[in-house]
Amino acid sequence: MSVADEVLAIYGPRGEAAYFGERVTIKEHSLQAAWFARVESAPAPLIVAALLHDIGHLLEAVPDDLAGWTTDAHHEEVGARWLAARFGPEVSEPVRLHVPAKRYLCATDADYFRQLSSASVHTLRLQGGPMSAEETRAFELEPHYRAAVRLRRWDDQGKVAGLATPPLEAYLEMLNAAAHAR
Ligand SMILES: [Fe+2]
Repeated sequence: MSVADEVLAIYGPRGEAAYFGERVTIKEHSLQAAWFARVESAPAPLIVAALLHDIGHLLEAVPDDLAGWTTDAHHEEVGARWLAARFGPEVSEPVRLHVPAKRYLCATDADYFRQLSSASVHTLRLQGGPMSAEETRAFELEPHYRAAVRLRRWDDQGKVAGLATPPLEAYLEMLNAAAHAR
């Protein structure tokens, strides 16, 4: 089974579920994040990362009612592990860091917090709130932190109800080209 076939199988059955607290499905949200990456002419591995950044949500069952969450499900770790088995760190690392990137942006960009959706503000609390100055410095030592920050902004943008984007099928060749030979 190619990586593209695996992705189709994963996003088929559960991808139509609502994206927690937002007005788009997980699949629409993922396609929008990838689309914004393409609009900014991001390199292919980062477009793949944007497309698959929430795959961790689909790999393990999480409560559909976001407000019921009492702990963070760490979907970024689950997703990054799956991706690291199939792609290089240019794909898996921005995904692993996209939740800390939100905490980083909240600490370093005054305008950023204002434009978060209410669901995103809720999860920020579960994720530990804005980074401290020490955490910010440590984050900037991560080799892929800039890519993670870019991915984070596309993640936040990708919540537009009714925005038409290319379908998942438009990315299948890119997925297989970016994957390790297996
Ligand atoms: Fe997301």
